[in-house]
Amino acid sequence: MSKSILITGGAGFIGCHVVQLFVTKYPEYKIVNLDALTYAGNLENLKSVEEASNYCFEKADIQDADALDVVFTKHHITDVIHLAAESHVDRSITDPLAFVKTNVFGTVNLLNAAKKAWAGELEKHLFYHVSTDEVYGSLHDGGFFTETTPYDPQSPYSASKAASDHFVRAYANTYKMKTVVSNCSNNYGPNHFPEKLIPLCINNIKNMRPLPVYGKGENVRDWLFVKDHARAIDTVFHKGKPGETYNIGGFNEWKNIDIVRLLCKKMDEKLGREPGTSEKLITFVQDRAGHDLRYAIDAAKIQKELGWEPSLQFDEGIDITIDWYLANEEWLNHVTSGSYQDYYSEHYTNR
Ligand code: NAD
Ligand code: DAU
Repeated sequence: MSKSILITGGAGFIGCHVVQLFVTKYPEYKIVNLDALTYAGNLENLKSVEEASNYCFEKADIQDADALDVVFTKHHITDVIHLAAESHVDRSITDPLAFVKTNVFGTVNLLNAAKKAWAGELEKHLFYHVSTDEVYGSLHDGGFFTETTPYDPQSPYSASKAASDHFVRAYANTYKMKTVVSNCSNNYGPNHFPEKLIPLCINNIKNMRPLPVYGKGENVRDWLFVKDHARAIDTVFHKGKPGETYNIGGFNEWKNIDIVRLLCKKMDEKLGREPGTSEKLITFVQDRAGHDLRYAIDAAKIQKELGWEPSLQFDEGIDITIDWYLANEEWLNHVTSGSYQDYYSEHYTNR
């Protein structure tokens, strides 16, 4: 095999789409998916590739240095695409240390494992770190995040991702590791864990449960279909310049309240409900602490230099997403049973 790529976090939302794309598009590569299977990781997301001859799964925690060494040696790992992380901002507000452990300590562990495995030939291997636009902070006066926007993380989640980005760049500078970083805006699509706004609302509309909108719903996010992010990761992995950063976004800004209304309208149609039925579920609740007002990515660099651009319009992507959740009731029931119920009542009751 020409490459043996370690994809971390491949059982999560974005990771499963990246794994599926690489396994099917590059049969000549061996794809090793390493994931700790936290509450957010789910092997059901990988059913379509689990029998593929160029795919294998390793259950391991990126905090476990010995386990990482074993995986690098066993699979002769040539490159890393690092997605494993604690990813939910609300959880970072209640348990910041969990985010330091996985996102900072775990990333440095992974960098060390790669440095050790690739000693003497660091220039032949790529460490690709997948990150977020939240590292740039919050936009208040218009404008966009570019690759040169100074870091200004505002939540424990974004602070941990910013720290991990800095470590990756520090390893490039200090040890001459070949690295690349991309910072992407909000993803949506199939397999999204229903703690996040869009799948949470789809699930609640389906079950006629309240739709919790933080504050006045005026916060703005820039949404990108998850498969377009996976295509961008493919592009950056193969064509990105080592040492560079690429911002990835959908040029698709929405206020939260408008997204929730759109979901209500579309789901009323799809479920054959009277127009206006689901909107009655909208409930304004206490705002997120330190809630970033607006994120917006300027994706001109990846468009111009690497030729990537989003393929789907939001309207089309949202239809695909809703239809996927309606067709995958078993998946939804599975991920919303057990610990999800505890999380939901702790987070939303009396909010
Ligand atoms: P997710 O929470 O859906 O999945 C994370 C995956 O990482 C899960 O499979 C989980 O089991 C695994 N994981 C967590 N801790 C681990 C550990 N210690 N060791 C090994 N595996 C572990 O997250 P996602 O939304 O798919 O995000 C993936 C990456 O992309 C993250 O780094 C995130 O910061 C970044 N990102 C996400 C978005 C978004 O909108 N979701 C946007 C930009 C960047
Ligand atoms: O911008 C990229 C980031 O997008 C990623 O790095 C994160 O991993 C990902 O979780 C996402 O972060 P957000 O905080 O923007 O996503 P979330 O879906 O949690 O929230 C989107 C917006 O909706 C945000 O303004 C908060 C609001 N919200 C969220 C929830 C869960 C609500 O109003 N109600 C809710 O119940």
